[in-house]
Amino acid sequence: MTKIRAAIKGIYGYLPEYILTNDELSRMVDTTDEWIMTRIGIKERRILKGEGKGTSDLGTEAVKGLLAKTKTSPEEIELLICATVTPDMQFPATANIICDKVGIKNAFSYDLNAGCSGFLFALDAASKYVETGLFKKVIVVGADKMSSITDYTDRATCPIFGDGSGAILLEPTTEDFGVMDSILKVDGVGRIHLHQKAGGSVKPPSHATVDAKEHFIYQEGQPVFKWAVSKMADVSLEIMKKNNLTADDIAWLVPHQANMRIIDATANRMNLDKGKVMINIQKYGNTTAATLPLCLWEWEPQLKKGDNIILSSFGAGFTWGAIYLKWAYNVN
Ligand code: UT7
Repeated sequence: MTKIRAAIKGIYGYLPEYILTNDELSRMVDTTDEWIMTRIGIKERRILKGEGKGTSDLGTEAVKGLLAKTKTSPEEIELLICATVTPDMQFPATANIICDKVGIKNAFSYDLNAGCSGFLFALDAASKYVETGLFKKVIVVGADKMSSITDYTDRATCPIFGDGSGAILLEPTTEDFGVMDSILKVDGVGRIHLHQKAGGSVKPPSHATVDAKEHFIYQEGQPVFKWAVSKMADVSLEIMKKNNLTADDIAWLVPHQANMRIIDATANRMNLDKGKVMINIQKYGNTTAATLPLCLWEWEPQLKKGDNIILSSFGAGFTWGAIYLKWAYNVN
């Protein structure tokens, strides 16, 4: 029987208009453009402004753009998975809200939380529905309004994060393109280093949790950095080895955009030339579930059918992994 693979057939991204620069940040907290550029590599990030605007608004823009670009009607979509750590609300799922705002009526949908690896985990899950022949049109959207959980008085975290979204359309193909392999990993022991302390069932919201700023991102930068550097590189090498790929075979590395030093370390361990690495961290910062699709969207005009692409990420959980993609189309 011919193998069905899940191929990305279109991609679209959305970034809110407001640009928060390092100069503006250095007027809010005790930091400098020089520190942020050398330690993280971010120059500016986008912020979603406006009362009542949430992650579903970011996701809706990306999905609407994707449907228009791929000439797909909302009724054709059978499944939508939204990767996010900043859902509009605890329930219902932001995926359901996006479907409603876009007019997707014949699909089921759900959210997936795998920290900064959310898009990778969601792409893996979505690809299985396609590979089994169950669905023919599936959307994966990575969307995060990180500004909603960022403490803009904490210089250790506020320079890092930004808001954004990216969406892909997955379809079946019997050609040898699309999602070729994936390796996903978690280790819950890492939860102590990166989490949101309150607002869940362990510590429901209260005046005390608000006063203690426990609804913001809590991150111990150094242990997260150490884990990210080794795990992202290890898993990227593991997927290369498993698929007999050398650095010469790889057209692009799409790394999670958390820190320029983590990206460099991963590319170095893979022996990859910097010109093969998608990097836009300087413009958007860490948009959590949106970093990978935003990179693919920005580089789409340069991608060629058959390009070997490695997606790689590390995030809260801890979660990490890599996906090997063979790009399925040329833009022109
Ligand atoms: O996507 C999810 C996964 N997350 C990550 O991958 C993040 C991984 N971690 C990191 O990227 C880095 O650890 C950070 C960027 C968060 C921090 O960089 P670092 O080089 O690990 O800095 P540090 O936390 O060791 O702090 C070094 C110094 C400290 O001062 P002292 O104690 O040496 O006097 C900090 O107080 O830098 C200080 N510092 C700052 N100085 C100026 C921390 N933040 C700032 C700042 N501006 N914004």
